[in-house]
Amino acid sequence: MYFIANWKMYGGLKTLNSLNKVISFSKSNLKNKSKIVYCPPFTLISSLSQKLKNTYIDVGAQNCHESQKYASLTGQVNSNMLKESGAKFVILGHSENRIIGEENNLINKKIKSSLKAGLKVILCIGETLKEKKKYKTTKVLKNQINNCLNGIKKSSKIFIAYEPVWAIGTGHIPKLDDLKENILFIKNILKNNSVKVLYGGSVNSKNITDLKKIELIDGFLIGGESRYPKKFIDIIKKTYN
Ligand code: PGA
Repeated sequence: MYFIANWKMYGGLKTLNSLNKVISFSKSNLKNKSKIVYCPPFTLISSLSQKLKNTYIDVGAQNCHESQKYASLTGQVNSNMLKESGAKFVILGHSENRIIGEENNLINKKIKSSLKAGLKVILCIGETLKEKKKYKTTKVLKNQINNCLNGIKKSSKIFIAYEPVWAIGTGHIPKLDDLKENILFIKNILKNNSVKVLYGGSVNSKNITDLKKIELIDGFLIGGESRYPKKFIDIIKKTYN
């Protein structure tokens, strides 16, 4: 199982101390059973990678520019730079970036560049509430997967995070039957078991007891709750108990 913490625009150097609890938990409880990946803002990737050396926890980034070269692009960071600063994963296609104009075609370029740089990719997909209400969910998911992964070999370096946009940060999760159906739909499109499929959107230490019943889910992408080490550890513990 994978537990990916998406910190979004949160955290400073002092925040990293709060992870000591998670590090000792992972050393005594997890070993090879599960993988934890922390995705902090760019500013913390390097320090966090140093801190997590010799632990079972990896570091990821939350986005990157599609070009692999240095360029005159103010404010941008590319996949090679992420790799060099210690990231092993990158989240791409998050709905919070799609909303401000990132489209499948651009995400496809970012995925290609990230794989070339040696990063593992967590590709976020998911329907909006409007699309759900119009029964367009499967159409949207298929379109996002096919366009984002166009020309890309499916492999264990690619993770799909199914995050219904309406479930992110709202406290609402899909009905379990719907979720199971959508995860299965995604797995059937991928036709490749090495691609892991995660769920994200308001995962917490309460609803995890329901979410874990869907055995097809290979892990969780956790936003808000991942900022609290105790709650994050609780989610992991309850997944197994
Ligand atoms: P949330 O965020 O857990 O706060 O809903 C998940 C995400 O956006 O990846």
